[in-house]
Amino acid sequence: MKNHRSFASDNNAPVHEKVMQALSEANKSDVIAYGDDLYTTDAERKFRHYFQSEVEVFFVFNGTGANVSAISNLTHSYHGIITAETSHMNNDECGAPEKFSGCKLLTVKTSNGKISVDDIKKFLHSKGFEHHSQPKVISISQPTELGTLYKPEEILKLAHFADEHDMYLHIDGARIANAVAALNISLAELITYTGVDVISFGGTKNGMMYGEAVVFINNLLASDFKYVRKQSMQLASKMRYISAQFNAMFYDDLWLKNARHANKMAKYLELKLEETPEIKITQPVETNAIFAIVPKQIIEPLQKEYFFYVWDDDRNEVRWMTHFQTTADDIDNFIKSLKNLLR
Ligand SMILES: Cc1ncc(COP(=O)(O)O)c(C=O)c1O
Repeated sequence: MKNHRSFASDNNAPVHEKVMQALSEANKSDVIAYGDDLYTTDAERKFRHYFQSEVEVFFVFNGTGANVSAISNLTHSYHGIITAETSHMNNDECGAPEKFSGCKLLTVKTSNGKISVDDIKKFLHSKGFEHHSQPKVISISQPTELGTLYKPEEILKLAHFADEHDMYLHIDGARIANAVAALNISLAELITYTGVDVISFGGTKNGMMYGEAVVFINNLLASDFKYVRKQSMQLASKMRYISAQFNAMFYDDLWLKNARHANKMAKYLELKLEETPEIKITQPVETNAIFAIVPKQIIEPLQKEYFFYVWDDDRNEVRWMTHFQTTADDIDNFIKSLKNLLR
């Protein structure tokens, strides 16, 4: 394969050079294991700064681990977790949320990846009925797996609903930086002040090598999480290498710069795609993903040049993603290849 930029996923991006430097700097001597170190204390302090709150922060290896350990901490196995049918938890975690929490996922059909209070009221019928899983967590992704965004007021409504009905609101924030950047508001405005209980906070897709955090805004829920994290096999002995990466991401707002760039490149790709009437964009381009229906005959040859995923085989719908290193030239070249194939 040529040395092209991939449009398959922000997971395909390299590690940001500042993160590599931070890893190297953290590699000079011994420090105490399992997070009792200055890198970790410093990273936790930075999280509290951005959340504008005394959040409890726990570093974990990956996004699936963040989601699974977060929801396991909030539930018993007789509980149900309400989530969009399109969610990563429902489709791309190989049943880990069900296996490790024991809970049933209560899925909601959506047209754009977003769930609303109206969509989930129906689950209240199960409350108190011993034959049904008891709804306990609403889990939304921000941005969604379709690249769309919840406005803060939409999150607020879901949080109120959760509160009123003795449930918790969890956010899968694998790409939370892209959401904060796109909405141009603070993390606190988007998450802390809207009443979210806990978020899986992503780092990997935005320039880190690996590492995410489970952040409890409702810090009363965090008291036993250290045991849950260990049982979930997400406790890193060499924790400093996750913390140091987050420190690099937060230094000088690198996390937001990276995300802004990725979002901007998706907008540029959208603009270029609008020149080709054969391509039909299917979702609003609000962050760093583009979903589009494309003529079937070009999918395979284009994938050979620029690997990407087919999202929905039946509709010939594909997903293209940009990331912090995508350039306008990468996109121009991609469009050139695409237009050649359409000829
Ligand atoms: C929305 C969302 N949540 C969570 C994840 C976490 O995935 P992983 O366990 O591969 O880090 C991903 C990865 O693609 C994702 O897109």
